Amino acid sequence: MQLNAEQLKAFDEQGYVFFPNCFSEEEILLMRAEADNILKLDRQEVWHEKTGAPRTAFAAHTFSEVFGLLARHPRLVEPLRQLFGEDVYVHQFKLNAKAAFEGDVWQWHQDYGTWARDDGMPQARAMNIAVFLDEVLPINGALMVIPKSHKHGTLAAGHDKSTTSYPLWTLDNETVTRLAAEAAEPGGVGIVAPTGKPGSVLMFHGNLVHASPPNITPYPRKIVYLTLCAVSNHITKFTRAEWIAHRDFTPIVPVDDGALLDYARAHRQAAE
Ligand code: SIN
Ligand code: MN
Repeated sequence: MQLNAEQLKAFDEQGYVFFPNCFSEEEILLMRAEADNILKLDRQEVWHEKTGAPRTAFAAHTFSEVFGLLARHPRLVEPLRQLFGEDVYVHQFKLNAKAAFEGDVWQWHQDYGTWARDDGMPQARAMNIAVFLDEVLPINGALMVIPKSHKHGTLAAGHDKSTTSYPLWTLDNETVTRLAAEAAEPGGVGIVAPTGKPGSVLMFHGNLVHASPPNITPYPRKIVYLTLCAVSNHITKFTRAEWIAHRDFTPIVPVDDGALLDYARAHRQAAE
């Protein structure tokens, strides 16, 4: 999959591109079942909200065959190779649960703010690709982005280690207010929450400002975030665990486009 001229323009101007229905229902059923099992595991990579509900499973691509295929999927890898003009490696892999009733806030931040400060990543030549495993609704803790905010470079941020169980370099209210006001003119929208069916995909620039509110609905909102980084831009500081900020900079070799379906069919047959 390659980005067309319109998508490249939208990415450059707005800082994100949204692809509804990028993965089929059959592919999503496989990944959702796998995600539900992973979030129940008792292992160091699975973090919990202060209530005990699962929040994030890190590095699932290293211990789950299904997510290993997703991390090498051409629908995610090819557009980034196109954007960066070189090979990419997996910097981070997060499965965010945003559990029904208990999923907690992600404060306003830029991803590259953390990758630069904590991991010594030289440039914002890495980005998150969000794969919706559940339907993302306006009401169940949707991710919100501030269009065009990626044009501001790396903004001043404070290290919040207490609000949630996940330390994050977060922006102050004044900055968010200013950026949203800028995005709203002329004829723009200050804050956008891309919503859609399971299987939708959102790619967003490493400096795009984003956040998500708590989920107080009965509807879970699981999203996988695959962070791919240009190989020549690999991290230089190893302050976080290897399974949070990876140190294996081997270029990804994409799998076949049908790899998830082949896996689902082979395992269904084996079970019959
Ligand atoms: C993130 O910004 O890394 C996660 C946000 C979310 O899952 O809502
Ligand atoms: Mn983020």
